[in-house]
Amino acid sequence: MATAPVTHPMFDRRIEDALADPDLTERLAQHPDAAAALVADARALAAAAFDDDDETALDAAHRSLYLLYAQGGWSPVHAPRANEHDLTVAAVLLELEAGFERQLGRLPLPDDLPPDPDAFAPWLADLALERELPQLPPTGMGPYIRDTITLDQLKEIVAQRSLFFLKEPDPWAMVIPSLQGPAKAGLLDLLLDEYGWGRHDHMHSTVYEHLMRRLDLDTAYDAYLPRASWQFLATMNLQGLYARHRRLCRRMYGYIYLVEADSPRSMRNYIAGYHRLGITDEDILKFYDLHITADEGHQDVALNEVVMPVVRAEPAAMEEVARGVLEGHLVHHDFSRHLHACFTAGRSSMRESA
Ligand SMILES: [Fe+2]
Ligand SMILES: [Fe+2]
Repeated sequence: MATAPVTHPMFDRRIEDALADPDLTERLAQHPDAAAALVADARALAAAAFDDDDETALDAAHRSLYLLYAQGGWSPVHAPRANEHDLTVAAVLLELEAGFERQLGRLPLPDDLPPDPDAFAPWLADLALERELPQLPPTGMGPYIRDTITLDQLKEIVAQRSLFFLKEPDPWAMVIPSLQGPAKAGLLDLLLDEYGWGRHDHMHSTVYEHLMRRLDLDTAYDAYLPRASWQFLATMNLQGLYARHRRLCRRMYGYIYLVEADSPRSMRNYIAGYHRLGITDEDILKFYDLHITADEGHQDVALNEVVMPVVRAEPAAMEEVARGVLEGHLVHHDFSRHLHACFTAGRSSMRESA
């Protein structure tokens, strides 16, 4: 059993400070004990978070992972990057990732994975959309959005999801170089649509920005990071993990398929929720409307033009792709369960400002 170090709640602050320190590498070279302590604390934090399910540790671990992925991956060019390749920072990231991977690995794949790639498509569609996994029972969030949610609660969801949708689909673009041939063309087709085929006003992230403005939310880069729940950060970190490790890129193809396949029915729930609240403003509903149609197409492209060419060329990839769907279910389930628990108890799903 890991012993939780007293520094857990502040670990993400230590990472934030380390990333912003222009003299970090020099300072740690002069104080090797400090470097070793940071890595050891990361290992202990990962054990407390991902092996022992300690909520405070999960919060600190996911915040730290998010900061590290943002620096090395999807943050804009003006973010501080002096320490992107610092060896201590890299070691901290590997410790946190190892813990996250251990946690994900404890969720077993259903044991009826078909041996034949052609039987895989319907099996994967069932795993993404229909199958109830005993470890992940329905959270009730879909009906809650349709029938009960308030405007303030919707705004909390929009605010937290802005960490993805204002940069949709940047984390997915990070796996483009892992593909070849028709599967690469398939992913590009999907991504180009998300990027509005090069038209700024058609980019899905621009449409999300309009939605946020109409709801009086802040559209600045990662404005809601300090208040986002760790459960939402976990959905981002799953993508960061898949994007950064080429051995896990096949899981990203599965994850993209899951997101696209699940999107239309989820968007319909949101529209029903807004309508019930009397909201018919096109600038608010457009993001949801757009995705009902777009993602019907995207799920087909993700399955038949990305996943299937991959698994036909490499049948052993089926298990990895399926794990991407399964692990996506896990992190989305945790976020939905968190939202439902908070909203039905009349609490905010977001953290107090740090
Ligand atoms: Fe989109
Ligand atoms: Fe999409």
